[in-house]
This record gives sequence, C-alpha cells and structure tokens, in this order.
Amino acid sequence: MQIHILGSGAGGGFPQWNCNCHNCSRIRKGEMKGSPRTQSSITVSANGVDWVLFNASPDIRAQIESFPPLQPARAVRDTGICAILLCDAQIDHTTGLVILREHTRPWDIYCTREVQEEMTSSYPLFNILGAFRGVNWHEVNTEETPFTIERADGLRFTAVPLKSEAPPFSRYRHQTRKGDNIGVRVEDTRSGKNLFYAPGLGEIEPHVLRYMEEADVILVDGTVWTDDELSREGISDKRAREMGHLDQSSKGGIMDVLTSLEKPQRKILIHINNTNPILDEESPERARLDEAGIEVAYDGMHLTL
Ligand code: MLT
Ligand code: MN
Ligand code: ZN
Repeated sequence: MQIHILGSGAGGGFPQWNCNCHNCSRIRKGEMKGSPRTQSSITVSANGVDWVLFNASPDIRAQIESFPPLQPARAVRDTGICAILLCDAQIDHTTGLVILREHTRPWDIYCTREVQEEMTSSYPLFNILGAFRGVNWHEVNTEETPFTIERADGLRFTAVPLKSEAPPFSRYRHQTRKGDNIGVRVEDTRSGKNLFYAPGLGEIEPHVLRYMEEADVILVDGTVWTDDELSREGISDKRAREMGHLDQSSKGGIMDVLTSLEKPQRKILIHINNTNPILDEESPERARLDEAGIEVAYDGMHLTL
C-alpha cells in the first residue's frame, strides 16, 4: 500500500492566515528552519490508481495539484480519488467536499451515522452537494468490524471509535458520542501490513493502544506539544484536551505512549498545529522527538507499506 500525506497541518494550516504566533511569524520571515503545511488529509492506495481520500481539507485543490496520481488522466473530467472517508465532521476535514462538487457522479463517502448527521444538519455540506451530483453515503460501523471500499482493491478498513470532541458547531460538542470521531486501521490484504491513522485523539483507551501496538505505521494526532500551548501564545484559554487533542509532552502524553511500544514500526505525528514548537526543526522539542525515534509528517511525505 502507498500512503501519501497531502496535508500535515491542523485546522488553519501553517502559517495560519491571521496568526502571528512565534512559529507563524518566523516562517513568514524565513527565520525558522521548517516548512509550511496545508490542512489535515492523507490518501491511500494499494494499486496506485484508485486512491481513497481520508478527509477533505479546504486545501484539497492545491493538494491534488501537488500529487499527480489524484489528477484527471482517463477522461475529460476525471479523478484518481475513488472514495472519501471522513474521520469526523470538523471543518478542516470536510470543507474540501464543496471544492470537489464538480464530480461527474455522486461521491462515495464513508463515515459514521453521527458524522453523516452533522453533515446533513449542523454543517450540511452533504445537502449542498445534493444540488450537484449528490452523495452516496456508506455507513461506517463503530463496532470495529472490517469493511472494504468498492474500487479500493487490496485494502481493508476498520473504524476505531476514539475519545475526542464533536466539532465546535455541533450540539454534541461536550456530550460527544461514540462515532463522532474515528481512527482507521488500513490493512494491505496482500502484504498483511497495516497503518493506524488517528488525526484527532483525546485519550488513548486500551483498544486504541492495541491498534497502535499492532500497526506497522502509526500516523497520530500531533496537534500540540503542551496542553496549554494556545494560552501560552495568548491565542485562546482553551486547553488542547477540551478540544479533543492529547498533547505530546506530558506524562501519559503521546510521546510517552509511542515510546512504550515495542514493535519495530514507524511512529509519525500528523495534524500539527501552527503553535507547536516541533515545527521548528532546530527546536529542543524536535530534538527530543528525534531521540525517541518519532517522526513529524510533512506535506508530500510518501510511505510504502
Ligand atoms: C480540531 O482539530 O480540533 C478542529 O479542526 C479545530 C478547528 O475547527 O479548526
Ligand atoms: Mn482539526
Ligand atoms: Zn500561528
């Protein structure tokens, strides 16, 4: 299987349009060793022709232009994207759907019933697509029963319910339901290798740890280094945990969990917020990750499993 990182940033991307934080201001001035990042999305394929898009970011147009296999090749209107899987209904993971409205047939979209409910009520992008070719919704179960996606030959998927938060606009924001957030195991049925992808993760429950332990590649929530990172920058008094993101550096944080895993595997942070010091490749925080063998995803990163 091939995995391509289209966007490794969190909501807002890096630099964010209105942000003058330590990182955003330095990257604009060319005073920081690091690279800009578009918003959260990956794509996966076993045959190199049919690609499943994981989340549709507002930056999808530029992301398609950055990766030729997603571009039209066989007809006057065409795409390499065979289906879209949504991990949640967050703005950074769904807004790209409206950019993709000119598709020539209904989009095959895989998501839970809870996400489908948001996408037809509080953030009704599925309804809006109804004025174009529409949505062919496929319900993703939260019982961890593996499923396949038509045309995505050689791949098997398992949705893993995660503790995180429903989106800010949801009536379930602080009464988050099972199914509002999922991670996904993607298995290559030929090689037997698997990816575990969880861009929004608030707590690592025992079943989630099991998926991490068994994965050959882990792409996991890298939003913040510290839980109070946004308030330190004077941006917001919200803690990352309240937004459904577990930090990297605290005791029991993502670094601790990743370093406790024994299987030889690649451990990669993704969905990195623009405030996170690990974006600075010369920072002490980044050096700690390097020492721990934890990688930081970047736009254009390509993995073969
Ligand atoms: C999140 O990951 O918590 C959201 O994408 C935040 C947002 O709405 O930008
Ligand atoms: Mn996000
Ligand atoms: Zn910033």
